[in-house]
Amino acid sequence: MSHDPSSTFDLNKPSPARMYDYFLGGKDNYAVDREAAAKVDAAVGKVMTHDIVWENRLFLQRATRFLAESGIDQFLDLGTGLPTRGNVHEIAQEVTPDAHVVYVDNDPIVLTHGRALLAKNATTTIITADVRDPAGILENPQLGELIDFSRPVGLLSVALFHFISDHEDPAGILRAFHERLCPGSYLVLSHLTTDGPSAEKIGQVTDAYKNATSPIVFRPRAEIESFFDGFDVQDPGLVRPWSWRPAYGESGPQTEYLYAAVARVNA
Ligand SMILES: C[S@@+](CC[C@H](N)C(=O)[O-])C[C@H]1O[C@@H](n2cnc3c(N)ncnc32)[C@H](O)[C@@H]1O
Repeated sequence: MSHDPSSTFDLNKPSPARMYDYFLGGKDNYAVDREAAAKVDAAVGKVMTHDIVWENRLFLQRATRFLAESGIDQFLDLGTGLPTRGNVHEIAQEVTPDAHVVYVDNDPIVLTHGRALLAKNATTTIITADVRDPAGILENPQLGELIDFSRPVGLLSVALFHFISDHEDPAGILRAFHERLCPGSYLVLSHLTTDGPSAEKIGQVTDAYKNATSPIVFRPRAEIESFFDGFDVQDPGLVRPWSWRPAYGESGPQTEYLYAAVARVNA
């Protein structure tokens, strides 16, 4: 199967990046995205969708601060999404002003909208590439300019892997990245789960994404846990994102739609 990201720029299909932007309250979305997002709002409730995305986004921010304060100064953020409040480079560079950040998203709109934000930031870049082709990302020369895999890296895959179907081998993709990470590196991951929402709601959300550029897949907690094989999951373990280390920043809404954890590569 081809994973040419240029083939995903399709204004006739809802895009997960633009739908997520809509749920966060952004303006970088189109009618086709809002129509699909309205189906999710109808199934789950508008307040709840807002809470789920902000619970996730605030987890991403706290985990980034935790990594930066733990000495990580290079970040590879897979499935970045459109720029919003509190982007990874902004948080990392508050702690370490010259922290290196490489953003990767297969939706070209992320590059289009992120370019202006990064125009004056020499240590941050955006690559349009597909996580289903880990070798293509790892061998990308732009990545090589900013990320040195002989030193610890913070690998972020926040609210990404529920857009990777089983036949696309999410665990295998994570293994390919894990192989390149040296001891002291971290994985940050959050994922929609079947352990919480009703089967009816899950069915309706899945249906709303069925014509999107990537379908969505909720997974049981045990399966999400298996994505951390080979990593050492840090305290407090795989938890609801709102409850993950509130001391590292704002934590906001509490839902039962996601699990999240931060894990370390040990020697
Ligand atoms: C829900 S957003 C999450 C954004 C951000 N990580 C966060 O948690 O706030 C998911 C992002 O993953 C991207 N994405 C989905 N499938 C992808 C793939 N196969 N390769 C790269 N990016 C992908 C989408 O375009 C979208 O921007």
